[in-house]
Formats: sequence, structure tokens, C-alpha cells
Amino acid sequence: MTREQKAYVFIYLPGETVAVPAGIFTHYPDDGIGRFAYGHRYLERFNALPVDPVTLQPGTVPRDAVANGGLYGAFRDASPDYWGRLVIAAELKSPAESLGEMDFLLHGNASRVGCLDFRVSLEQGEPETGPPSFQSLEDILEAATQLQNGEPVRHDLFQLLEQGTSIGGARPKCTVELDDTLWIAKFPARGDSVNFPRIEYATMLLAQACGITIPEVNIISVGDKDVLLVKRFDRRKTVLGYQRFGFISALSLMEWDERDRTQWSYTALADRMRAVLLAQPLELEELFRRMVFNVLCRNTDDHPRNHGFLWGEKGLALSPAYDIVPTLTGSGVGTEFSLSMSLGNRGREATVVNAVSLSARFGLSRDKAHVIVEELTLCVKNWEEYFASQGVSSVDIEAVRACFSGADAVISVARS
Ligand SMILES: Nc1ncnc2c1ncn2[C@@H]1O[C@H](COP(=O)(O)OP(=O)(O)OP(=O)(O)O)[C@@H](O)[C@H]1O
Ligand SMILES: [Mg+2]
Repeated sequence: MTREQKAYVFIYLPGETVAVPAGIFTHYPDDGIGRFAYGHRYLERFNALPVDPVTLQPGTVPRDAVANGGLYGAFRDASPDYWGRLVIAAELKSPAESLGEMDFLLHGNASRVGCLDFRVSLEQGEPETGPPSFQSLEDILEAATQLQNGEPVRHDLFQLLEQGTSIGGARPKCTVELDDTLWIAKFPARGDSVNFPRIEYATMLLAQACGITIPEVNIISVGDKDVLLVKRFDRRKTVLGYQRFGFISALSLMEWDERDRTQWSYTALADRMRAVLLAQPLELEELFRRMVFNVLCRNTDDHPRNHGFLWGEKGLALSPAYDIVPTLTGSGVGTEFSLSMSLGNRGREATVVNAVSLSARFGLSRDKAHVIVEELTLCVKNWEEYFASQGVSSVDIEAVRACFSGADAVISVARS
């Protein structure tokens, strides 16, 4: 007999700090299918938002979720990834492989991304424990290190870590509260050969200097380790608690399959943003800038979960950029590489020639695209000075040098 698992889907509506039930999600794990039905009372609300703006518009016949293990895109985005799953597996004392999508969905807590929540019953209240305080960061970092090393973690430290780890991504991280604001604290990972938190910090600031919108970032030292703080763009504190803003990844917006990267394409994303989200020219230009910047800094981990959209009453709009880090490569090896998504008429080939080849799809004339590329190239050429001034060590600067080797040659190539 086919197994059937149910979760009540709650949503924090715009301006609210308490979630309301929106409907029931039934998951059929053996078939990899999911089915959602809105509650009648929810649909009567004047301010009802779709729980998934792509596949579950109120008033339309709900489609089954068939890709990505049978989770609707917005649901999958609200569930933890590798790191959060590792923490939940440790909490449940079960190997992660023995747990199903519904286990991860239901064990996520108030730190999950976006405005959805998943509960076992209608009566289950708000997630009780809020994110840990910034003051606990040293303890949380210790717990994260022990967990990665497969060592036993002290119960109280584990609880602190667990409270903040339902957001996505593979690297160790925890949401913490500081000055009435939530921040994602991104830690060094076991086996890192360089100081990634500081390199990510410097790269994000370089992206900002290139005209890309980023969340506020900070770098702090905890003991002998650097920790990157990224301000959460999906939360805002009010006197009543945190308001939550809806979030979906580009993967969900496009209904792409996580395992089929042949579908992933910046130009297709731009088409959808223009045609369906009615994106303004500046928003499309921003996407183009992010794509070109990923070429110039060799960020090949630009998969469609690393592009996001915030959703509210006015619809969906590109979120600030996140997770931009050079992917390390040996010297002399970095000249030819691919991004995760297709850029132009040469597919995923990471060159500016390819990036400008379909510039019209981003609403840009060829000349305007060249101007932007030149602007970004001039900015990225200063990367070394920039990284040094942000405290990146000379050893780490050498480690990333090959990633930036393309920037020098770019202008002449793009013009030819
Ligand atoms: N500033 C932010 N505010 C809210 N949510 C964010 C923010 N930055 C990232 N996220 C969400 O958290 C997830 C994880 O963040 P991030 O991509 O930085 O982690 P990561 O572990 O480096 O990811 P990856 O597995 O791609 O390497 C993102 O996929 C996105 O859903
Ligand atoms: Mg990521």
C-alpha cells in the first residue's frame, strides 16, 4: 500500500507575526508525488497569498508536485539542505539517509527561509524557540565543529545550534539574533583549505562595488576563526515579533529539476522574469550583472538555488544576491570553465563573449551589455587590493588568484 504523510501548511501573511493555516499537504514518498489542497477559510481571506506562487495560485486547480521528490518548489525551498539535514539527523539520532522529505519539512523550525511553516496538526502552536543570540556564537561554532568531526556534542550546545539551522545550503551555518536583526552566521567548514568566510565577505563587497545588490555583510572573529554574518532579507522585527517575507529560489520559479542541469539557464530565467513577473529593465540588468560577475570571479556554484526571489503583495522580485564565492582552481587551469547555468549561445561556457551573446534577452542592447562588462571588469581588476584591504591573507590571495585571471583579458576579447 502506498504510504501517505500529511502536513498542515501555515503561512505568515504580509505584516503578520503569527502564522495562519493555509491548507494540507499530502506527500506520497513511495511515488515521489505531493498534493496540496487549500482550506476554504484561508481562501476567504482578503490577503491570502499563494503558498507557492508558481504552482498553487488560489482559485486554480492545484497540480500535483512531481519533480524534486514530490515537493512543491516553495516547500522544498523552506526545507533544510545538506547542513540542516545533518543537524536534524543528529537530533533524531537517525542517519540522514533513513529520513524522508516529510521528516525534514516537519523538523524545520522558525529559522527556515521564507514565510511558510509546516506542522503536524492544526493545534500545534508557533515554533517555540527563537533563533539563538549572537552572544552564543562561540558555543554554536564549537557545536558545529564537533558535529562535523563526528564527535559527541554537548546537549545544551546542540540545542542552540539546532534552533538556527533550518535554512538551506550545504555549508555549516546558523541564524543568530543581533541588534533586533537576524543574521546568517556562515562558519568555516571541516576540510576548508582557505578562509572561506573572509573570502566570501570580500567577494560579496566586490560584487556590491560592481553595482550588485547584496544584503548587509560583516565579518567577525570568534576565537581563532572568522565567521561571515549575512543579514537575512526575509525577516523584519516588529514589536510583536518577526515578520516573514515569502521566498522562492530560481529553481522553483522555473520549475526546474534539481538533478537536470541541462534545463538551467540565465536567459530562460530572464525570459520568465520579463514575461511573467513583469520585471523592470533594472532588475533584468541586475541579473545580467550577477551572471557576468560570476564569470569574472569564477563562481561556478551559481546553481538556481543560489538565485532567489522575494514575494509579497506586489508579486515576485529578485532578492539581494547571496553565496557568491570564487570556486578554487589551480593556476593555469582557471582559464576555461563553465558556470552551472547556461549564459548564452555557447551554453554554460564561462566567457564574456558568451555572456553578451544573447544580451537582448536581458533587455540590453549589445552596446549597453559591453558597457556593463567593461564597468565590471574594471572593478574586478582591483580584486587583489580589495581582498587585502578586507583582511584576506596573502596565502589566500594566492589561492584565489587563478579565479580572477580572466578579468584582465576580458575587454579586448569581448570587443573582438
Ligand atoms: N541574506 C539572506 N536572507 C535570507 N535567506 C538567505 C540569505 N542568504 C541565503 N539565504 C537562503 O539560505 C540558503 C543558504 O545560503 P547560502 O547559499 O549562502 O549557503 P551555502 O551553504 O553556501 O549554499 P550552497 O549549498 O549553495 O553552497 C540560500 O539557498 C537561500 O535560500
Ligand atoms: Mg547556496
